[in-house]
This record gives sequence, C-alpha cells and structure tokens, in this order.
Amino acid sequence: MRTPFYVTTPIYYVNDRPHIGHAYTTIAADLLTRFHRLSGREAFFLTGTDEHGSKVAEAAQAAGLSEQEFCDRTIEYFKTAWKNLSIEYDGFIRTTSERHKKAVWKILDAMRSAKTPDGKDVVYTGFYEGLYCTGCEKFLTEKDLVNGLCPDHNRKPELVKEKNYFFRLSAFLPAIKKKIESNELLILPEERRREVLGLIEQDIGDFSLSREKVKWGIPLSFDKTQLAYVWVDALTNYISAIGYADDDKSFSKWWKNGEAVHLMAKDILKFHCLYWPAMLMAAGVKTPDKIFIHGFFTVDGEKMSKSLGKKIDPNDLVAEFGPDVTRYLLLTQFPFGTDGDIQVNRFVRQYNSDLANDLGNLVSRVAKLVETNCGGKLPESFKNIAGQKELIEQAEALPSIVYKHLEQFSLDKAIAEIINLVKAGNKFFNDSAPWKLAKEGKIKELGGILNTCCEVIRIVSILLYPVLPNKARELRRVLGLDDSTLNIKNAENFFALKPGTKIELEKALFPRLDTMKSDAVIAEPKAVHNESGNNLLDFSEFAKMKLKVAQVLKAEKVEGADKLLKLEIDLGDEKRQIVAGVAEFYTPEQITGKKIIVVVNLKPARIRGINSNGMLLAAKKGKLLALVTPDGDLPPGADVS
Ligand code: MSP
Repeated sequence: MRTPFYVTTPIYYVNDRPHIGHAYTTIAADLLTRFHRLSGREAFFLTGTDEHGSKVAEAAQAAGLSEQEFCDRTIEYFKTAWKNLSIEYDGFIRTTSERHKKAVWKILDAMRSAKTPDGKDVVYTGFYEGLYCTGCEKFLTEKDLVNGLCPDHNRKPELVKEKNYFFRLSAFLPAIKKKIESNELLILPEERRREVLGLIEQDIGDFSLSREKVKWGIPLSFDKTQLAYVWVDALTNYISAIGYADDDKSFSKWWKNGEAVHLMAKDILKFHCLYWPAMLMAAGVKTPDKIFIHGFFTVDGEKMSKSLGKKIDPNDLVAEFGPDVTRYLLLTQFPFGTDGDIQVNRFVRQYNSDLANDLGNLVSRVAKLVETNCGGKLPESFKNIAGQKELIEQAEALPSIVYKHLEQFSLDKAIAEIINLVKAGNKFFNDSAPWKLAKEGKIKELGGILNTCCEVIRIVSILLYPVLPNKARELRRVLGLDDSTLNIKNAENFFALKPGTKIELEKALFPRLDTMKSDAVIAEPKAVHNESGNNLLDFSEFAKMKLKVAQVLKAEKVEGADKLLKLEIDLGDEKRQIVAGVAEFYTPEQITGKKIIVVVNLKPARIRGINSNGMLLAAKKGKLLALVTPDGDLPPGADVS
C-alpha cells in the first residue's frame, strides 16, 4: 500500500482577487493530485483562504463591510476562479471557521505547555518593539526598507510597541537543520534548500506568537487580550483542515501516515521551512515531508503582487482559452521552480504549436483516415511498420518517466515529455504516409499505422489528463473510452484498444487561433465603462491610493529641467523628497511652506536622476495650474480620503 498523498497550497489572503500567481500553485496542486490518483494512490488536495489580520480588516473597512461579511464575499472570487479552472480540491479551509479556531487553540495550548530541547518554556512573554508591515503581515528591520518604505508594498511600516508572547524558535533550529540535511524534511529545489540552511546560520531570532493591538483574529487560548499572530493562525490550516482538533482518524491518515507536501512560492519560504516545523515539533506533531518552492513570476517584466504591478485574472485567460489550455499554458512557460516572465502574447503561438498543430492535428488526421478508409472503426493492429517499434518503446517508457519528473515536481518536464510522444506520433504518421497506402490498396498496413496512432493518442489521453482534464476526456470519447480505463496502469501497455471500436471526432479539439487581445487580459488596473464612456474604478481600487497632507519644507530648481522642482516635504512622521513638474507655475520661494496633497504610496521613481517618492496633486486647465491644498489648518500627515 502506498502512503496517501496530501498536498496543500498556501491559503490566499482574501483582501484581493485571485491572480495567475495564485492560480499557478493551485493548478500545480490539482495536477499532482490527479496524477497520484491515476497511479492508484489516495490523495487529498487542500486549499483555502487566510482571512485574519490587519490587512483584511483594512480592506473590509475600505469596502464598508464587517470583516466577516467581507471575507464571506471575497472567498467566492477564489472558489469561482478555481471552478473556472477545473480545479477540484478536496478541502477548502477558511481560517474564520470554527473547526480551524479549535485547531489553533489546540496547537497554542500544546506549544504553551511545551519545553525546548534544553528545558526552557517554548512560549514566553516579552515586549516587542519593531517595524510592522501590514502588507506582508510581518516585522521588518531597517535593512529591509528602501527609502523608509517596505519595498514590496511601498508603504511605511508602523512602529509597534506591545506586550507579546514569543515562540523560542532559536531552540529548534539545530533540530530543523538536521531534518533538512537528512531529507526527513525535504526542501526542493536544491537552491531553496540551501537558502533555508543559510537562514538557519543567520541570527533570525524568535518570533512573536501574538499581537495585542490587532483586532481581527483568533484570541489566544490562554490570554484573550491577545490575538494569535496571523502566520501562526494561517500555518495551522494545514492540520486543522484534516482533523487535528476533531478527527483523529482523518488526521492520522493524511498527516501522520501520509506524505504531506506543501507547495508555495519563495515569498513565504521562511514561515514554512522554519516557523512551521518548529511549531509542530513544539506541539509534538510530525513535520511535513516535502516542501516545494516554485518560482515567482512577473508579467511582461513587471512584478505582480497584490498592491503593485500588472495582474492577470485567471478568469480572463479562461474566457480566452478555456480551462484546460489556460492550465497548460501557465504550467509550461518556464520550469516549475525557477522565476520567469509571463508574456501573454506568446500564448497563442505556443497553443497553436503544441496543442493545435501537434496534438489536435494528429487526432484529426487519424480520425479522418479511419473514417474514410476503415468505416469509422478502429482497424486491427499490424506489426513491423518502419519506426513503429521505437514509437511503442517511447510510449511504454513514458508513464515512468512522467512519474519520475512529477516526483521531483518537474511539472514542465513531465508535460514536455508527453508532448514529445505526440510529436513522435506525428512523425511516425508523416513518415509512413498512410494516405498513400490507401491509394495503393495496402489496407492492412494502413490500418496498422492508424491503430498505432490511436494507441499513442490513448496513452496521451491518460497522461495529459492531470493537465487537461476536460480535453483528455473529450479525446478519450473520440476513442470510445470512458473513465474506467483512465489510470496509469492502462498507459503502460500498448495495444489496449479493441479493434472495431467506433472512432469519431465531431469537431476539432484544439482549433487554431489567430490572435488574442492580450490587452484585455492584463489588468493595470481594470477599467469599467459607464454609459458616458468614462472609466469607473471599483471603490476598492480607489481605496488603494493613499493621500496625505504634506508641507513643503524646501524647494529648488532641477538643473537642466525647466519644468521641475525638487521638493523636500514633511509628512508628519517622515520627510520625503519628491520631484514635481510645477516650476513654470511656482518659484521655489512661492511653494516653500505651502500645504499640499501628496499620493504617498506610489512606487518610487527616478526623474532626471533624482529620486522622487510621491506625487503632489494639482489642478490644470489649459495653461493654468494650481496646487490642490487643504481648506483649513491641518497638520502634515493628515489623511485625505
Ligand atoms: N496568506 C499567506 C499564505 C499563508 S499559508 C499558511 C499568503 N497569501 S498570498 O495570497 O499572498 O499568496 C502567496 C502565494 O501565492 C505564493 O506563495 C504563491 O503560491 C502564489 N503567488 C502569488 N504571486 C505569485 C507570483 N507572482 N508568482 C508565482 N506564485 C505566486 O502569502
């Protein structure tokens, strides 16, 4: 009996809509689950949503909803996207569920009563003073900041001073190191494993287990004045969802006796590879078996994150290509495990090449010849055709090659090997030119070629099923097959189709595409049009913009640029430099001392070689320009909303 396979994705923050970054991990987990099931293994696939923390509370407030209402509403975006992508998870865990809360309490209690290997309390109280970025939901150090801002969220972290409970992470690091080095905790790819081992060598300190001033979260089981730190809450999802607190049988099956595999990108490696194993060890629970960290991708060279950059909504890709092709395209852009750039304008070309030309053509050419020469029924097999032996060998070897690649999480390589068989099938078809044999009356040989090609298609329909679940089933229907033979065992042997079976292709499976409107797919940000044609923003889009009152402290002309002034501004708790195109309207003396309104969460820019960290607002008509200023005596730093 093989151990059950348990695979998870990160639980996604609900303060945003799903984008293709989230889809990438989730499709990968779906693929692995389907593949392991095909190979006869029991599998459980968990995904879900991370619903607590200041970030979600802020988004709920901006949307004018209670936190719970906001979460109930936004999780639907994830569920819908996963449905549209034909993702079939077995569990969807929400951190606001009662089941999850019970598990968080259970692990907190277990950690609270635990001792470190050298006999100290795992959990201790202390005071924390540090810079907290709500965007990352983590503490940052001065070193992490760029121009005083969190580089990932372009926002100033808050200075937090409060009583916290701490988790003595440092005491567990030597044991975690051992587990990683012995591969008891297998971290892949190797480069990420080295990164984690490198982190252990640095003094990463303990972490705070709770927060005092945050309002949306799970109260600690042993001190209701504190809420569990969102990461402690979130990581526990991996066991709460399978019964850690309420279903021993299920928990033993999937966690204790199963193979637990976490998938994610490198942004959250430290939490998963260090905090999580340490929490589990403290609580006396087995650590995960494998953690695979895939690459982070950009879109047209730009970072894609919740707060910044371009985003692609997976639903838009599904509308353009359908679920199967979207899954295929996302997984084949670059190796699973390395960073890469998604260029949607390449999708059509790749679709046409791999799916329309290679697979689609093979199926339609074979089906057509079967129809015209064999009465639409699968002909008998016939051996000793040139190139046939090699093709059969390649096909029969393929399942174990695919299996090996998937064991290593080389999803893209596994797919490429399957497409190679399709290409080999096409080559065999072309080289043996069955259409000529028809004219020459060599019907047996002709039948043998078509039979061989149908076998190739059958094997491909099994192996590609985890990537293209719907199309694979359509493919199988062409061959008169249902799900009863949809398993890896059936892919291991050639000549499994019954001669005489009806072969029928109603319409092309992968019709060629000309172009797509990639502009419609990349959102930056998405505009909705009202009747008069104006762009309308969602409120949540507007709410992302942070405006503040600032006072100009100093101003000077930018050399060689007639229109620019370099300003030093006071934002109450920080000073910044911005470059503004107002020099034709204001002299440095006129603008100094003025109160202005500034957009404070823009990406820093370099204008004429000078850093500009914000943008002032001005009203303009024709040749007139005036600064937008607060009507009243507000201090610098006041929020504008
Ligand atoms: N809520 C935390 C995770 C808690 S898990 C206990 C979180 N959520 S998230 O919504 O920000 O999701 C991060 C994950 O989304 C990444 O680890 C990755 O799986 C996926 N991706 C998000 N953006 C991505 C890219 N640009 N590229 C690839 N994957 C990306 O962190």
